[in-house]
Amino acid sequence: MSELMTGMNRTAYCTDIDESYLGKEVTVCGWANSCRNLGGLLFINVRDRSGLMQTVFDSSVCDQALCEKASKVHLEASVCIKGTLRKRSESGINKALKTGTIEILASELRILSDSEPLPYQISEAAGVNDAFRLKYRYLELRSPRLQNIIRLRSKICHEIRNYMDEQDFTEIETPILCRSTPEGARDYLVPSRVNPGEFYALPQSPQLYKQILMISGMDKYYQIAKCFRDEDLRADRQPEFTQVDMECSYVSDQEQVMTIAENMIRRVFKNIKGIDLPKQIRRIPYKEAMERFGSDKPDTRFGLEITDITDLVKGCGFGVFSSTVESGGSVRLINAKGFYKGGSESILSRKDVDALGEFVKTYKAKGLAWIAVKSDGLQSSIIKFIGEDLANKIALKAEAQEGDILFIIADKTPIVLSALGALRLRLARIGNLIDDSKYDFLWVTQFPMFEWDDEQGRYVAEHHPFTMPMEEDLPLLVSDPSKVRAQAYDFVINGYEAGGGSIRIHSDDIQKKVFALLGFDENDVQSKFGFFINALKYGTPPHGGLAFGLDRLVMLLAGTNDIRDVIAFPKNQSACDLMSESPSRVEEKQLSELSIKTDIKEKK
Ligand code: AMO
Ligand code: AMP
Repeated sequence: MSELMTGMNRTAYCTDIDESYLGKEVTVCGWANSCRNLGGLLFINVRDRSGLMQTVFDSSVCDQALCEKASKVHLEASVCIKGTLRKRSESGINKALKTGTIEILASELRILSDSEPLPYQISEAAGVNDAFRLKYRYLELRSPRLQNIIRLRSKICHEIRNYMDEQDFTEIETPILCRSTPEGARDYLVPSRVNPGEFYALPQSPQLYKQILMISGMDKYYQIAKCFRDEDLRADRQPEFTQVDMECSYVSDQEQVMTIAENMIRRVFKNIKGIDLPKQIRRIPYKEAMERFGSDKPDTRFGLEITDITDLVKGCGFGVFSSTVESGGSVRLINAKGFYKGGSESILSRKDVDALGEFVKTYKAKGLAWIAVKSDGLQSSIIKFIGEDLANKIALKAEAQEGDILFIIADKTPIVLSALGALRLRLARIGNLIDDSKYDFLWVTQFPMFEWDDEQGRYVAEHHPFTMPMEEDLPLLVSDPSKVRAQAYDFVINGYEAGGGSIRIHSDDIQKKVFALLGFDENDVQSKFGFFINALKYGTPPHGGLAFGLDRLVMLLAGTNDIRDVIAFPKNQSACDLMSESPSRVEEKQLSELSIKTDIKEKK
């Protein structure tokens, strides 16, 4: 059945109708959220984007044909119901609903579009498997939870635009069909029909365009920009995501950019959540973040900090420790305070401890040693190797008390830190140490400029190749590139990298040096970035900027840890949109127009 709406105008959204409408004729439009037929009385709960309104078809007062029609409404049919607003009977009051004391006594019903039996109940979407939910994404989007998140996203964008506009930034769109430039992740490529054999790349970010806009004198640019990266997906990563991207000219130091960005976040949190950010947001240098928390995006809502015991175990008889120290690695630990009290008070059993040993191996650590402080002395996986005396010294250094268990890793320092960083988060979840209602904001600064990539046998840029080294480290570009720190900064919220940026290189000379260190020879630079290097030669203003991950910001404000919740049409783990079934095979004719041949015969 499919009727027209002619003559039926919505009075208001369901939950905007209140007792001031009592006795008046009202019309609601939406979906049949539930239908209950109690014989003479039939209830249809109508749901729109605001919430629910109960409508009642009472055979003692309503037209028989109307009641008959109402009994044919299926769940999730799209309906329009007119009637008189009245109070519910005492027994019908539902305090959980905003409209729980009122109902519409129906006088007219239009079934605008009936619904087939649903593949799953929308209210039970949480229990349905991911693939099925994504296939019927339009149904899941009807759920109040996703409706609220998507509207929240829109409000956040609105706040951002207002703020940037007040700060006199100009919103400028940059191309989606770009040149492929090596930025970090793999590109999504688009073949050109008119230039056979040539490809555009979708932007991984508008980085080069925004820098060129500074050269072009735009002074302050921003954009809510779509970005595309073909990389491994995680709970906080999508192949297609959105950045709040900004750049400003004539900045003399990074604090200027950081303040603008910070104030935008301040405004969003205040106006969306009523939350005041601290007056001073901490700046933690990268090295300190790594050494204390084992992460460049530390969650500091809880302790469990890392302690370095390299010096203490140097030269001890235990080969694992001493050989690690001799080969330049380190030995560090986390004190899991109160995790090993014994008996029912223990948070960790022996089995759990073994499982943690397996867990750190996924971060390339070769093992996990432990020392527990029990009422009757120390218990440990390594006491037979290191002896009571050293074990006691380690416990003392870690300020261990009865009930604590120390987890120790010996390895190359980056492995020790990242494995302990991951273990720290895991322990916090196991011990329920994180107050999820709290927000924790900080900046991580002084990132290393380069990272050595063993596989490629060359340095790669930690942020991107256009980042300016710290002035005092410029001489190190020649003497020891591994020690060069960048004028780069990341904004971290609750252990998520919410945004990142840097002051840029504005001299073609330094830019060339950096490219050379990254292994691009003169030809590479000209062929890959020639246009950009040339642009830098014409009076480039000092400039810097940053981009926030809009999806991650929305996630944090919505209180979800799944990025797919905040994107209307997300992709799954394999970068597929299960609803529209993209990517998909295309006609041979389309391929031949693009001069593309594939050797894939069978559809997967
Ligand atoms: P960066 O690569 O750090 O910097 O990205 C900026 C922010 O974008 C978010 N982000 C993502 N969100 C979801 N899915 C992804 N796959 C994804 N990748 C990144 C993160 C991150 O902090 N052009 C520079 C910015 C600059 O220097 O101005 C850039 O893109 O929240
Ligand atoms: P093994 O000699 O391999 O049996 O290890 C003895 C103990 O040392 C076990 O408790 C291991 O978990 C621990 N261990 C081994 N390698 C490391 C390492 N790289 N860091 C910390 N502990 C380790």
